Formats: sequence, C-alpha cells, structure tokens
Amino acid sequence: MSESDSSPKIQTTIETGDEESRHAPLNARDTVIETRDLDVYYGEEQALDGVSMEINEHDVTALIGPSGCGKSTFLRCINRMNDMIEVCRVEGDVEFGGKNVYDDDVDPVALRRKIGIVFQKPNPFPKSIRDNVAYGLKIQGYEGDIDERVEESLKRAALWDEVKDQLDSSGLDLSGGQQQRLCIARAIAPDPEVILMDEPTSALDPVAASKIEDLIDDLAEEYTVIIVTHNMQQAARISDRTAVFLTGGRLVEYDDTTKIFEDPEEQRVEDYITGKFG
Ligand SMILES: Nc1ncnc2c1ncn2[C@@H]1O[C@H](COP(=O)(O)OP(=O)(O)O)[C@@H](O)[C@H]1O
Ligand SMILES: [Mg+2]
Repeated sequence: MSESDSSPKIQTTIETGDEESRHAPLNARDTVIETRDLDVYYGEEQALDGVSMEINEHDVTALIGPSGCGKSTFLRCINRMNDMIEVCRVEGDVEFGGKNVYDDDVDPVALRRKIGIVFQKPNPFPKSIRDNVAYGLKIQGYEGDIDERVEESLKRAALWDEVKDQLDSSGLDLSGGQQQRLCIARAIAPDPEVILMDEPTSALDPVAASKIEDLIDDLAEEYTVIIVTHNMQQAARISDRTAVFLTGGRLVEYDDTTKIFEDPEEQRVEDYITGKFG
C-alpha cells in the first residue's frame, strides 16, 4: 500500500438504511468528469453529437440506448482509448478533475491508470492470476508490496476467496464470471478513481452477472463507476443516474435513474424504455 492509500476516505454518505438515499444528495456531490459539446467522428461519420454531461463522484452512472448510438465511443473518450483508433477525431472538452484529458501534457497511459476500463468480453492476459493483477503495477514501477496489493485488489473484486490458493495458475483457466472479476481486480490494482465498464455482464450467465452487479454496488463506495448496459433492468437496479443516448449520438436525457424509468421528460425516452423501439 502506498502512502496515499492509507489516508482515510472521507465519509460523505449519509447512512439512513434507505436504499434510495444510500448515496449523498446529488447536489452534495462533486463532479469528477465533465464533457462539454463533445463531438466524435470516425472519418466522415459522426458518432457523438454535442454531448455535455457531468458525472458525479461515487455515483454509478448508467449509459443506455440502442446499438450504435455512441455509448462505447463516449466511454472510450473518457480515458482516451479512442486515441488508438486512427480514423477517430474528438472535438470538445472532456475534463477529469477539472483538467482536460486531451491537453498536450496529459499522458494517456497514466490517465488510464486513474480511469480503468473493463470490457464486455473478459480479457485476462495469458498469465497467472497474480501477474494479471500485478500487470499495471509493474509497468508503473510500483515500489510497494505487490503481493499485498494483489490480495487487496482481488478482495475488492470479490474474487480472493475463490483464487487465493491458485494465484500462480493461468487467469484463462477461470470461469467467465471469475475472469471478469479478475479484469476488475486488474483495473482496481493501480488505484483508479473511475472505473468504466462496457456491457460487463452481457457475455456472462445470470448468476455470474448478478455477482458482478453486487460487486458494482460495493465498488461505488470507493470509486466512480460508469457502465454501459443494454439491459434496462440492470441500469434500473444498479445505477444512481442514467443517461439515455439515442440515434445520431445524442444524449437525449440524463437524470436520476428513478426519474428516467418512472417519469422521463422525453417521449422518445419513454418509448425506448418501454421497448417501443431499439
Ligand atoms: N472503430 C470504429 N471505426 C469506425 N466506426 C466506428 C468505430 N467504432 C464505432 N464506430 C461507429 O460509431 C457509431 C457508434 O458506435 P458505438 O460507440 O460502438 O455505439 P454503441 O456502443 O452505442 O453501440 C456507430 O455508427 C459505429 O459504427
Ligand atoms: Mg458499445
């Protein structure tokens, strides 16, 4: 553990035992990520159109909308994964903690340690469980106790009890759900602030998916979670805020999850949520 990890986290959450108010009131929350007029193009094709959005610290924010509406693109802008797509062009601002992540002095590799990502298909490296989790730490030249950090990360990812006696066996030998939790442990190890998840349960069976959902709830106490899901029930179950993207890469409505699902402002959103299209 490094110095910064041992500093106590300030507890801002008001514990009322009431599920609805499990997290602090929205206006008491800090914005951790803010996009302004975000436009993204792949060559001539526009994938996001003027997306402005503020994401609250320690919230679980769900991104929903029909296939091709730009959810993955939005997620990848946040930690500059789109840099790797040659035809991709980003215009507008993406701020993380008040700093534009596209500024020249931002190191995208360091950014991705602070903003980790987990994909739809679990993608452990063909390495041992231990080395999968330690991967980012080693690249970073981490000087603390790596084994301790590996254990801690696996515990936070709710995987430790299942793998503690087989840390040297391959990550690829685990079940799909375990592999996904391993990927979450790998994202957690470098001590990120934000975890992005792109449909993290859609390749898993319902039991494995439900474990990941429970885990996301725990993770939100420590991290900010932004999750793309095509599963509306999942968004309703696990998120505090929901952003609805519709065709053309537009953010159509963004509000408390209960409001989006019970009383959306936009007819198009209601139609989408009730399954009239998409
Ligand atoms: N690597 C890419 N190259 C070219 N076009 C892409 C690429 N990735 C996504 N797109 C296009 O951008 C649009 C948004 O895609 P995406 O962000 O993947 O949507 P979603 O995740 O909501 O399904 C789609 O029209 C898609 O075809
Ligand atoms: Mg996608």
